[in-house]
Formats: sequence, structure tokens, C-alpha cells
Amino acid sequence: MDSKEFVKELQSSNNKILERLRSPVDILSGPEAAMSIPSLLKIALKNEVEATELAAVWMPTTANVEVKMAFARQVGDEAKHYRLIEERLHQLGESLEGFNPLGHGYSPLFKFLSVLRDMVDRVAAAQFTREAIAVVKNEQFIALCEAKGDHETARLYRDIIQPDEEFHHELGRRLLEKYATTEELQSNARLSARQTLELADELQGLAFKQLGIHHAPGC
Ligand SMILES: [Fe+2]
Ligand SMILES: [Fe+2]
Repeated sequence: MDSKEFVKELQSSNNKILERLRSPVDILSGPEAAMSIPSLLKIALKNEVEATELAAVWMPTTANVEVKMAFARQVGDEAKHYRLIEERLHQLGESLEGFNPLGHGYSPLFKFLSVLRDMVDRVAAAQFTREAIAVVKNEQFIALCEAKGDHETARLYRDIIQPDEEFHHELGRRLLEKYATTEELQSNARLSARQTLELADELQGLAFKQLGIHHAPGC
């Protein structure tokens, strides 16, 4: 299949699962109504540090300079998000003294992604797919912030973080259109994207069951 056709097909099969991640729960009557924005922002810190680290460890093991630099761009952006979220938490009166976002270890999604070896798989899973998940989750988080009256956190996500995550997803699309050129690369990439979505879906289910969380922001 032509790589552009492949990306279109991947997008539409991703969209079917992404629909499941869009929570049907009414924001103001859902369990998040009781959950504070700072506790959700602390989950966001974990997502941002994982996204930063993953893109960073992939740089030295990616020979293609264009893709290597796409990961570098992501490292910078995700680290910037981390710092901005930290600043917002301070403004909200949270002390992050002694807080370690990786204190309970890395997420199953990070562990799955970190063992991907192929460049096209990495781009399909972590940029094209995980960043699309982030965009959906951030949309929900922004709506939650607005509903709770935290317009400043909503603004941070809407004006700064969300456009970067959309850019990462688009970067993934461009790279896949250029490099996912064989049947083998495409079928592996399809599988990696699928597993990424399933893990995210499963994690969301777990987060909801254990903590009542539907609307934690992505990265
Ligand atoms: Fe991102
Ligand atoms: Fe991010």
C-alpha cells in the first residue's frame, strides 16, 4: 500500500479506539468533580517526564537524522510542558518538595514503548498514536478545568501544551508518509499503534476503577 494511503487507514482505525477514550461521563457529575486539578496535574507531570525520557533515549539509537531531530524536538517540548505544569502547580499553592513523578515506577505504556527498536514503529506508536491520545485527553481536561472554574490551567493547556501535542502528532504523520513504505514496515507499525491504544484504553479503565479518574491530561 502507498504510504499516504497507509497513514489514512491507520488514522481511521486509531480513531475508532480513540472514540472509546472520549469519556461519556458528564464532567460536573462525574467523579472528577471531586478530584482536584493539582492531583490531575501531578499525573500530567509523570506523563511529561516519561514522554521526554522516551524521546531522549531513542535519539542515539535512531540513525536517520530527520527522525533523530524529530525526537529531539519532542524532548524539548515535553520538558517545557513539565516545567510549565510545575509552575502552575506552584501558583495553585502546591509544594512539590519531595514529590517524584516516577516514585511509583514507570507506566506499562512507557515500558511497552521503550522496547520498540524500529524507527517506523517508534514514530507510529509514540508520535502518531500516543500524541493523538494526548490531544483527546487534553481536550477533556481543558473542559474539566473550565467547568471547575480554573481558567488559567485551561489556558495553559489550550494555548501552549495542546498545540505542541498536535504538532508532535503531525510530525509523526509526515514521517510515516515518508518512511512507512513497505508492507512489512506498515504491518509492524499497525500492530505497535494498536498496542499503544489498547494499553492507553486499559490504563484509563484502571485509573477509573482505582482512582475515579477519566480526565487526566496526556503528553
Ligand atoms: Fe507530546
Ligand atoms: Fe507534553
